[in-house]
Order: sequence, then structure tokens, then C-alpha cells
Amino acid sequence: MDLSILIICYLVGSVTFIIGLKMLSHPESARKGNLLAAGGMAISVLGTIFLYQEDGEKLGNYPWIFSALIIGSVLGTLAAKKVKMTAMPEMVSLFNGMGGACASLISIVEFDHLSHLLSRGGSVHSGMLLIIFAGLIIGTVSFSGSMVAWAKLNGRIKDFSFKGQHIVNLFIFAVIIGLSAYLIIFPEHISDTLFYTILVLSVVYGLFFVLPIGGADMPVVISLLNSFTGVAAAFGGFLYDNPVMLTGGILVGSAGTILTILMCKAMNRPLSNVLIGSFGGSSAAVSGKDQGSYKQISISDSAVVMSYAKKVMIVPGYGLAVAQAQHVCHELEKLLSEKGVEVNYAIHPVAGRMPGHMNVLLAEADVDYARLLEMEQANDEFPQTDVVLILGANDVVNPAAKTDPASPIYGMPVLNVELSKMVIINKRSMNPGYAGIENELFFQPKSSMLFGDAKSVLQQLVAEIKTL
Ligand code: TAP
Repeated sequence: MDLSILIICYLVGSVTFIIGLKMLSHPESARKGNLLAAGGMAISVLGTIFLYQEDGEKLGNYPWIFSALIIGSVLGTLAAKKVKMTAMPEMVSLFNGMGGACASLISIVEFDHLSHLLSRGGSVHSGMLLIIFAGLIIGTVSFSGSMVAWAKLNGRIKDFSFKGQHIVNLFIFAVIIGLSAYLIIFPEHISDTLFYTILVLSVVYGLFFVLPIGGADMPVVISLLNSFTGVAAAFGGFLYDNPVMLTGGILVGSAGTILTILMCKAMNRPLSNVLIGSFGGSSAAVSGKDQGSYKQISISDSAVVMSYAKKVMIVPGYGLAVAQAQHVCHELEKLLSEKGVEVNYAIHPVAGRMPGHMNVLLAEADVDYARLLEMEQANDEFPQTDVVLILGANDVVNPAAKTDPASPIYGMPVLNVELSKMVIINKRSMNPGYAGIENELFFQPKSSMLFGDAKSVLQQLVAEIKTL
């Protein structure tokens, strides 16, 4: 009876994961989707703790299990409540690393069981070994790689590479695969030493794999590592014949892979370029040609042109997130709308530093979803737009992506802001953005620079428009 209820718990878990994931695809339903999937996960975990039986015996160990659950839940909740939007990739990386470590620990525990079995003269199925090694390698690489990504994002470590690193990486990878294949084919040669050698090499591979990648490319790498963790968890599902672990792992694995592909597409860079390109690291601005001079605009002039415009398009970027200016931005939008101006937001798919960054940021400030235009929609709107206000965005509005084949962002789809009648660009200086390149948009006759921190500039604009 207990086992039948457990199967139903797993079914509920799997179904809620799938529906929850679907609901995550729209900002309006995302919160509910997350809660639904978390509820399904809780049912599956509690079902396993109380209903699972082996040889008629329940799991027991309740004080251990619940102590770990309580500590993990308290730490996770506090971390999630405290985290700033700009530090989100960092936290995702840390949590993902924990997932990888769990998958790896499962393999270590199960290997221990197997080696006891072997030492008592038992035999081992090669398929079982394959699953254990796959979980161990993928989970460990995901763990150590995610830890490096986390440390890079919060500035604890810098990009690091040495000559021939990719060859060394390939060599380590070949040794890991070779050793694992040998032990799967000849299980009688299994030893703790060889098993732990594979573990250590996997840790090293994870470190070397992520260390050279440009700091700013970390979100793409984290998404890739996330898919690794999902695959490693799915192997755990095979190992324990556990359907909900299998479904969860496969969903995470495939969602991570799709997200990685989408991010690369939106940046028009193949994954190989992200992994070995060292793009957007700490490199200085690449200045191809003399761009000429730029002009500036004052707060009061900006307030006037926006107040008397018919259509204004706001282009949010990474700088808006850094300045935490989303609330005052929403205030500006409401104020202009009250004056009869049509205000919308143009959302580039990789504006900011993580997928959906701008959508989440603006949702936090209660901006109406209907005002958020996707890139294609926004590009249709620009020719009819009077004023474009760019807030801390740079690469995603750089025309070089369309005109300069030598540019590192050439081919990346961008917002065609230059088709509008006037462009006001707010940033703090003429410094480049993520790609480390100059932006010719800033020097075009239609463009005017409005220097300053996005939050303070928006506050001044709001105050000025109120006086008009
Ligand atoms: P960026 O090109 O990085 O430009 C951001 C600009 O914001 C900078 O030029 C900076 O100029 C300005 N800024 C910084 N702090 C500011 C503040 N407090 N107030 C006002 N301005 C400030 O950002 P973007 O246009 O959003 O483009 C995103 C880039 O990230 C793309 O190249 C994309 O490929 C990359 N990327 C995105 C993702 C995802 S999924 N979103 C993942 C990986 C990489 P100043 O220093 O002069 O102020």
C-alpha cells in the first residue's frame, strides 16, 4: 500500500515539474509555476522519507534527515531573500554546484556498496558501473566548475589560463574516460585508488574547464553546468530506479541545454567561442576607428523632449540593474503616460547579465507586462518612435553588430534604436560595455549623452517632468 502511494507521490512530483516549467515561461505565471514545482518536490521528498521501504524496512534516520533538511531550507531561504538581482547568476552557480556535489556523493556512496559486494565475492553489472561513473564524473565537473564560476562572479578569482591549457584539458578528459571505460569493461580490476583517481581528475577538469572562460561569459557557462547537474541527477534516478529523480534530472538537463543554445544564439556566438574565446573579460575597449565627437543633453532638455513626444521607448540594460533604478524608471513611465505619451520598453534577449534579467527587474517594479516589447516587436516600432531613452545598455544597441564584420559582436541581433527620431543615452561615462568595444551610436547626429548614474538621473528627470 505504502509503495503504491509513493508511486502516486512520484507521479504528482513529475507532473508538477513539467507544468511548473511550462508556467515559468511567462512572467505572470512564473511565481506560481515555481511554487507548484516546489510543492511537487516536497511531496516526492516526504513520500520517499516516510513511505519508501527496502526489504520491508523504512528509511529511518529521521533526526539526520530532518536536521539536514532544516539546515538546508533555512540557509537556502535566507540566501534567496538576501540576494541582489545582479548577484543572481552567482547564487544560481552556488546552488547548482551543490546539486552536482549531491549527484557525485550518490555515486561515491553507491560505489562503496558495490566494492563491499565485490569484496564478498559478488558480481557487478557493467550498466550499474556505467551509471555510477557517469554520475560521478558529470556531477563532480559540475560541482568544481560551478564553484569557480561562483568565485569569478563575486571577484574572488580572476580569469586564469596557461599555454596549452586546452590540450591539458583534453588529455585529462581522455584519461577520465579511458579509466572509466577500463573499469566498466573489467570490473574485477576495480579499486578504491582508481575510483578516487577519477574523482580527483574530474575535480581538476572542472576547474581547468571554467578557469579560462571570460568572467562575463559566466551565465552561459552556468547554464551549461546546470544542464550537467541535471544529467548527473538523472543518472541518480536510473541508479535508484526513481522516476521523479529521472524526470527532474532530464528536465533540468534539457532546459539547461536549450537555455545555453538560446543565449549563444542571441549573442550570435557558437558555444565553442564562449568556452575558449575569453570574450568580455577584463580587456580594454577595442577602438577600431576615430568616432568623432559626441554631444550631451541636459536633464531639463531631456525632460522636455520626452514630455512632448508622442512615443517614447525605454531600452533597459545592465546599468539599470546595477543602479537598481527599476522603481524610479517605472515612476518616469507612469508620469509620461499621464501626460499622454505612449511609453514602452524594448527588451533585448541578452540585455543584462542573465536570461530574462530585464523582465524580472521590471516585474519587480510592477511594470505592466504589456509594455514590454520583445526585440522584433520593438524594432518594428522604432521608426515611429520620437525618443528612445537608453538606460545603462550598450552592446545591445550597438549598430556595429550590423555594419562592422570585424566587430566581436558582428551578427548579434540588436535593437535598431537609430531608426527613431532621437536617442538619449544614459550611462556614467564613455566606457564600453560587456564586449569591451566602442559604440558608434553614441557619436551619431541623432544621439545625445545624458551622463550619470541611472537612478540619480531618473530621479532628476522625474522631478523635472513634475514641474512641466
Ligand atoms: P553592457 O553592454 O554591459 O552595457 C552596460 C552599460 O551600462 C555600460 O556601458 C556602463 O557604462 C553602463 N552602466 C553601468 N553602471 C551604470 C549605472 N549605475 N548607471 C548608468 N549606466 C551604467 O549591457 P547590455 O547592453 O545590457 O548588454 C548585455 C551584454 O551582456 C551583451 O553583450 C550580452 O551578450 C552580454 N551577456 C548577456 C547575458 C544575458 S543572458 N543577459 C549573458 C552573458 C552575456 P558606464 O560604465 O559608462 O556607466
